[in-house]
Amino acid sequence: MNMKGLIAAGGQGTRLGELTRVTNKHMLPVADLPMIYYPLQTLSLGGISKIMIVTGKDHAGDFVNLLGSGKIDKRFYETDQDRNLFELDLTYKVQTKPQGLAQVVGMAQDFVSDGEKFAFILGDNIVENSLDQYFKEFEALPMGSAMVFFSEVTDPERFGVPRFNQNDEVVEIIEKPGKLNPGPPPSNYAQIGVYLFDSTVFDLVQRSKPSQRGEYEITDLINPYIAKKSLHHRFIKGWWQDVGTIQSLSNVGQLIAKTGANNQPN
Ligand code: DAU
Repeated sequence: MNMKGLIAAGGQGTRLGELTRVTNKHMLPVADLPMIYYPLQTLSLGGISKIMIVTGKDHAGDFVNLLGSGKIDKRFYETDQDRNLFELDLTYKVQTKPQGLAQVVGMAQDFVSDGEKFAFILGDNIVENSLDQYFKEFEALPMGSAMVFFSEVTDPERFGVPRFNQNDEVVEIIEKPGKLNPGPPPSNYAQIGVYLFDSTVFDLVQRSKPSQRGEYEITDLINPYIAKKSLHHRFIKGWWQDVGTIQSLSNVGQLIAKTGANNQPN
């Protein structure tokens, strides 16, 4: 796998209240691991080892302390043994002010060479099943393509939501319908925080403009691929969680206890 990885692990985590007063959200415990380990594992199981982590200035040092160069041995207290967990090659970049996910993508421009592909994953997104089959499919697609993933939800207004036409083709992704954009959610699907791009996305980043809330929106990078008919989408199997709230933090711990995360699908 020649693809690279990019993880967004900045932001304020304000919806987690007291838990994130001194700790970066992505360091919080989820089951028996810090949250960031799950998206790292999603990339690693997909065969991606060269990964850039973008985070804020206040916590960049914590990430280096935790993850170092990327070779991580998991500790088992009961047996007093370490077992290799990750063999990654990590790069870090500081996002001085969190101004949106499209800005994070733009920060990878020097990391991803011309003609290369990469998987962008949000540091608070956790999936039940590994996505490696999709990474392989994306590798085989021509340059200029992008791939996104949908999961059915009961509260689409919290997410980027696809609008489908009568032929079930995606015609638009709307960010937080009813909140950031007018109108009801056009479907019951959320665009999960995993996006497969190649270096052609950086032209779109350069052209993007801040939204009403002052952020460079990820949807502004996706919608142009729809317009040129080169956006691919897949409906993921198994659960998906965006661990942005106290409720989802407690839910995801229970889900992982039941099924595990990043499993090989049957
Ligand atoms: O989780 C899926 C959703 O993620 C998508 O459906 C939405 O389209 C997408 O905009 C995003 O929405 P959120 O409201 O969940 O994004 P949030 O601001 O919580 O940021 C997601 C992660 O990225 C979080 O771990 C913090 C990090 N982040 C965020 C921003 C805005 C950064 O590292 N830098 C940033 O500038």
